Amino acid sequence: MVTSSPIIVALDLGSAEEAVRMAKAVAPHVGGFKVGLGLLYGAGPGVATALVDLGKPVFADAKLHDIPTQVAAAARRLGRLGVRWVTAHASGGEEMLRAAQQGLGEASGGYAGLLGVTVLTSIGPADLAAVGIANTPGKLVSKMARVAATAGCEGIVCSPHELAVVGTVAPELLRVTPGVRPEGVGRGDQARVMTPQQAIERGADWLVVGRPITGAADPVTAAAGLLASIEIPGSGEDD
Ligand code: C5P
Repeated sequence: MVTSSPIIVALDLGSAEEAVRMAKAVAPHVGGFKVGLGLLYGAGPGVATALVDLGKPVFADAKLHDIPTQVAAAARRLGRLGVRWVTAHASGGEEMLRAAQQGLGEASGGYAGLLGVTVLTSIGPADLAAVGIANTPGKLVSKMARVAATAGCEGIVCSPHELAVVGTVAPELLRVTPGVRPEGVGRGDQARVMTPQQAIERGADWLVVGRPITGAADPVTAAAGLLASIEIPGSGEDD
């Protein structure tokens, strides 16, 4: 039996009200809430605070990527919202990630941690080749994981396919994994997907799941079913 949920529900909905309503409904089956660019730019960053008030860790998926000074300024603002994690693109480089981590740490009194976003789960090798990147997603994620660890990130966001490589090159990083699809659910725009159980077996600490829950006819049942499909190693009743 699972004793705690590794699911972070991605609340990619149209308004703060819808996001909070959805968060309250699925709360018994999830371990945290994620707000992404749509809500942060639409409803505004205050939506994160409304979710923090529900008592679970909140993940502001701001995907910061700019010069270090700008990123530090944005991270300081986000760090004051009470969120547990903020993301920045690891491709922004070590100095940028350091600036983000520092701004976040100062503003949150050390509570919030930075997650480095590696290669988006919607991107495949052909997309990388089209923009002149000859490396495979695996090779790129491995390089980015090293940079993120050196810069002091708490963790990394990567597809289930790159969990093993991150565990090898930077085992100290928390592994947060989108691109998770239960058996029989459509991939949407995600390219590099696996089932929740496969991602956990490959070492994911947290699974980020959006549309399979929020787009389901019955999101509460979908969230409960997803959680029931996962067996966390070492969480059996005898342990
Ligand atoms: O709806 P779905 O389960 O595909 O949502 C996945 C969530 O994870 C989205 O909110 C997306 O922004 C986020 N994400 C991702 N790939 C990354 C980083 C974040 O899909 N590399």
